[in-house]
Amino acid sequence: MKALILVGGYGTRLRPLTLTQPKPLVEFANKPMMLHQMEALAQVGVDTVVLAVSYRAEQLEQEMAVHAERLGVRLIFSLEEEPLGTAGPLALARKHLEGADPFFVLNSDVICDFPFRQMVEFHKSHGKEGTIAVTKVEEPSKYGVVVFDEKSGEIDEFVEKPQEYVGNKINAGLYIFDSAILDRIPLRPTSIEKEIFPAMATSHNLYAFVLPGFWMDVGQPKDFLKGMSLFLAHKRATAPEELSTGAAIHESAKIQGNVLVDPTASVGENCVIGPNVVIGPRVRIEKGACIRKSTILSDSTIANFSWVSGSIIGRKCSIGSWVRIENNCVIGDDVVSGFFWGENQKTRLLYYV
Ligand code: GDD
Ligand code: MG
Repeated sequence: MKALILVGGYGTRLRPLTLTQPKPLVEFANKPMMLHQMEALAQVGVDTVVLAVSYRAEQLEQEMAVHAERLGVRLIFSLEEEPLGTAGPLALARKHLEGADPFFVLNSDVICDFPFRQMVEFHKSHGKEGTIAVTKVEEPSKYGVVVFDEKSGEIDEFVEKPQEYVGNKINAGLYIFDSAILDRIPLRPTSIEKEIFPAMATSHNLYAFVLPGFWMDVGQPKDFLKGMSLFLAHKRATAPEELSTGAAIHESAKIQGNVLVDPTASVGENCVIGPNVVIGPRVRIEKGACIRKSTILSDSTIANFSWVSGSIIGRKCSIGSWVRIENNCVIGDDVVSGFFWGENQKTRLLYYV
């Protein structure tokens, strides 16, 4: 089977991390976001992945080519001259997708247990043009809402980002389509959610597959951290060995709850780490630091007695001693933070180098 991953879009909601790398490459649980998807696709026998790119193509190409080779997946880059939205890229990549087999289409910023095999079985069982994975959320207005028949799965209505309450089952951003969908999509900027899905629903050609387990769109800071907690809980339940990594953790440090520490990272004396923390490759957490519900990306240092809570620290950052970072703070790559002595008081200062 083949798959197309939508990796365009500017990732503005995850700035400043997306100023230095495209959103699909931002590490989620110590792996580029879209690598979680690529690995799951390869596991169900997908041998060709089309990356629909409209932005920072070279960086994506360089990094993903290595992973694709390891997974035995052929990567095709489909480059848009202007962003074609969420459906236009399918028209552009038409020659790579059409054929007798159905194909997957994925939003690159969603994380879940990727039950692709069950999705394929469901798609074959109803025999219509498209299947979309759906999940239940508390705040449906920031997603595409799907109204469907609970028994058959047939979708009656698809409303993207509704202003008024329509329902609480939403589009999870994972699809399977037959080639017939390609006849519905013009080669111009087109939204699959606003222009294609409503028409498919009207012609009884779109079905909903209810996702079992956790799901999150990790394209914005708060949801990234929520997704991280759900992902770690899922790992704890299904593959706990992946959470104990053999990193250099000082014997006096306390590791609480679900924590993922890269084996090349180090945690110093009397640190308190967790619950819900991801520490990336070569990160150094110094004496007495306290970190919870946060991701620290690769090559960063958190100096003595600093406190990081509910935040994402970018790559190669150097966070000084006694710094407090909290409340969905996102620190970009290469940021140095330290103390600045004001007139008669200590003030904190964040500055770039
Ligand atoms: N190639 C390409 N070109 N990709 C694009 C473009 C484009 O012009 N615009 C957006 N994308 C990609 C993004 O990189 C992302 O992987 C995907 O399309 C969806 O875009 P988002 O910007 O993340 O959309 P959203 O999160 O607001 O809403 C979408 O996802 C929700 C689930 O997370 C919609 O599909 C909603 O219906 C859905 O509920
Ligand atoms: Mg998104």
